[in-house]
Amino acid sequence: MNSNALTNTPHRRDWLAETIQIAATTGTATGVASVLGLPSTKAASPSETIRLGVLGSGGRARHLMRSLVKVPGLKIVALADVRDDSIATTKEHLETIAPGSTKELFITRDFREILDKKDIDVVLIGAADHWHAPMTIAACKAGKDVYVEKPLTHDPAEGKALLEAGAASKSIVQVGMQQRSMPHILRAGELIREGRIGKVHKVHLSWNRNQPRFTKDIPKIPISAVDWKGFLGTAPGQDYDPYKMVHWRWFWDFGGGIFTDLMVHWIDVAHGLLNLTEPLSAASQGNFVKAEGIWETPDSVQTLLTYQSGVTAHFEGTFSNARFGAMITFMGTEGSIYCDRGAMQVIPDPGKTIKAEELILGKGRRGADFYDQPDGEMIHILDWVKAVRERKQPSAPLLTGIDAAFAAHMANRSLRENRIVTHKARTPE
Ligand SMILES: NC(=O)c1ccc[n+]([C@@H]2O[C@H](COP(=O)([O-])OP(=O)(O)OC[C@H]3O[C@@H](n4cnc5c(N)ncnc54)[C@H](O)[C@@H]3O)[C@@H](O)[C@H]2O)c1
Repeated sequence: MNSNALTNTPHRRDWLAETIQIAATTGTATGVASVLGLPSTKAASPSETIRLGVLGSGGRARHLMRSLVKVPGLKIVALADVRDDSIATTKEHLETIAPGSTKELFITRDFREILDKKDIDVVLIGAADHWHAPMTIAACKAGKDVYVEKPLTHDPAEGKALLEAGAASKSIVQVGMQQRSMPHILRAGELIREGRIGKVHKVHLSWNRNQPRFTKDIPKIPISAVDWKGFLGTAPGQDYDPYKMVHWRWFWDFGGGIFTDLMVHWIDVAHGLLNLTEPLSAASQGNFVKAEGIWETPDSVQTLLTYQSGVTAHFEGTFSNARFGAMITFMGTEGSIYCDRGAMQVIPDPGKTIKAEELILGKGRRGADFYDQPDGEMIHILDWVKAVRERKQPSAPLLTGIDAAFAAHMANRSLRENRIVTHKARTPE
């Protein structure tokens, strides 16, 4: 193994050591995750209205709002965005899906103004990736509960401060990895735990699309209509670039390409169902099929991740062929379990006598990005709202988001440094 490995980075080693310390000093035997589920004094009764502010009101926030407006006892009362066009589109969208609801809507370019409001209880963070951790930490410090989109971190070093802020505030934080709330995926977990497919030693994950995403059409957004400095935040200073502001996912300062955008979802499912924490090593490869000179992050990637338990996970993602779509397959000594966002299927290996089983909830082709059922957004939000009311752990708490993002960061580091990166796992699996 390369001696200049991820595990040898002082940055990473420090936060891990201190993370374990947080768990120890708060007296938990089972690790850091349970630290975040300690009861809080701010339990809201089921009849109390939960008032929600949106920090970063782009496409994802608009999608989630369709579910949020249907949640009994929850009201969207504020929007923050550094782009005036996002605010205008989102306000119009909200008025369409919940007529009358924008009359008293508080609107600002500066998300801190929402955090300062005492009459706002919870926030939805739908900003660009590099803002997820800073906004979550600030929201916890302001005493808000949080639904934050994936990937939770942009830099692995953010994990320590996130856990500290979560533990200190006892905020209920749900990371937007909605597969953790999907019934067919939970059923797959039960089957794996009861040994239906034998010993699982390998997981295959993919997220493939075939989309015309690669033209460099510069959005016509004047600098006067945005807060560019507010968008940059802690990212390196640079001149206003409307293309980057809209397509931030594919630029290293703000996103992490396919690994952080898409792999995080399935690697989180692998972590959850196989009880894994972070990988021990990552060996990645990436290339440009269509986005050369337009994006910084490759548009076709793959990585091989190894885990302490001996499990290996192989992920491949491309935007130039959709054959294998978005799916995860757990491979065991007796058979396999296939899951996408709409279905779960047990597939016995040839000659093996295990019982086949399937749970097909969504209509459409295998490996689609979205299905009509299950409504992952709604059930994940409801899981969070229940956790907020009952002051208990949601299905995707902080540590799950930190671990899933960490796997993606390891994969990216291997890709960018063209070497295998290694890491010492935090806890025995
Ligand atoms: N869970 C899922 O299935 C899923 C699906 C899609 C997107 N996402 C996640 O949602 C997030 C948003 O994605 P999107 O597609 O909506 O992107 P988007 O670019 O459409 O929206 C992001 C918004 O955040 C705003 N923003 C950036 N910095 C800000 C700041 N400092 N203060 C206030 N607003 C700020 C931008 O101006 C933009 O309007 C991403 O992190 C993405 O990974 C998750």
